[in-house]
Amino acid sequence: MADQKWLTTSAGLKMPCIIYGTAWKKERTADLVSKALQAGFRGIDTACQPKHYDERLVGVALQRMKDQGIERGALYLQTKFTPLSGQDAGQVPYDKSSSLELQVAQSFETSTKNLQTAYVDGLLLHSPLASHELTMKAWNAMEKIHKTGGARQLGISNCYDMGVIMALYADARVKPAVVQNRFYLETGYDADLRHWCSTRGVIYQSFWSLTANPRILASDTVLNLAQKYKKTEAQIFFRYLNHSGIVPLTGTCSEQHMKEDLNIFDFELSSEELNDVTLLLN
Ligand SMILES: NC(=O)c1ccc[n+]([C@@H]2O[C@H](COP(=O)([O-])OP(=O)(O)OC[C@H]3O[C@@H](n4cnc5c(N)ncnc54)[C@H](OP(=O)(O)O)[C@@H]3O)[C@@H](O)[C@H]2O)c1
Repeated sequence: MADQKWLTTSAGLKMPCIIYGTAWKKERTADLVSKALQAGFRGIDTACQPKHYDERLVGVALQRMKDQGIERGALYLQTKFTPLSGQDAGQVPYDKSSSLELQVAQSFETSTKNLQTAYVDGLLLHSPLASHELTMKAWNAMEKIHKTGGARQLGISNCYDMGVIMALYADARVKPAVVQNRFYLETGYDADLRHWCSTRGVIYQSFWSLTANPRILASDTVLNLAQKYKKTEAQIFFRYLNHSGIVPLTGTCSEQHMKEDLNIFDFELSSEELNDVTLLLN
C-alpha cells in the first residue's frame, strides 16, 4: 500500500496531500470509498448535497472500515453545507423555509448522522451566497459549529472572486483554512487567488484537475516527464500540483487509478521541470 503524505493546515490539522472525492458514485459510494480507504487514502471529501453525493453511503463505508481497523481518528473527513441554490428542489437535506442559520445547523446535523461521526475535520461552504451579508450569515453559523467542536476547521468552495474571499477572510472570526476550486484555464488556474492563499496559509484544494486539462496531460512536457519518472501522465500532474502547494481531489472509480493516484510521493520534480509544466497553464 502506498504511503499517504500529509501536511498541516493553519488550523493545526493534518490533511492528506491527495484526497478521495465521493461525488457521482450513487449506489457504488460505499464500495468505492471502502476500496479507496483500503488502497491507502485517508482524506475523504463529501457534501450534504444528495443531488451529487450519497453522504449516507460514505458513512456506511467509514463504519465498515472501522470494523477493519481504520479508525475515524486516522482520517481527514470533510463535508460541505450546500446553499439552497445548489440543491435539487425535490431533495433538500434541510428545511428550506428555515433561516439560513438554521439551514446550516440542520445540514450539519444531517451530515453527522449520515457520516456516523460526532465531528468533521473540515466543513466547507459549498459556494458563496448572493451577497457578502448572506455569505457571512452562513459562515457565522458554521463558526458556531466550529466553536462547539463539530468542525475542526472551515473552508469555502467555488470561490473564484478575490474580493469575495478577501471580504470573508477580513470579517471571519474563524478564518478559512481551505479553498476548494475547479482547476481550469477559464479562471487562469486561480493564479492570483492561489498566491493570496499561500501568503495566508490557506490550503488550495483542486477538483477537475484531470478532466479539465487533457491538453496539459497530452503535452510533450508531461509525456516526457512520465517517461523519465516511469509514471503516468496523471501521476506527473498530481505530483506537479502537490509541488505547487495544491491538494488535488481524485474521485477515481478504478482500483488501479486509486493506487496510482497515491503512488506519487516517491519522486521529485526539479524546479526547472515545475516551471516547464507551469508554462502550460497559460
Ligand atoms: N466543490 C465542488 O463544487 C466540487 C465539484 C466537483 C468535484 N468536487 C470534488 O472533487 C472530487 C473529484 O472530482 P473531479 O471533478 O476532480 O473528477 P473525478 O471524479 O476525480 O474524475 C476524474 C477523471 O479522471 C480519471 N482518473 C482519475 N485518476 C486517474 C489516473 N490515475 N489516470 C487516469 N485517469 C484518472 C477518472 O477516471 P477513472 O474513474 O476511470 O479513474 C475520471 O474520469 C469529487 O468527487 C468531489 O469530491 C467538488
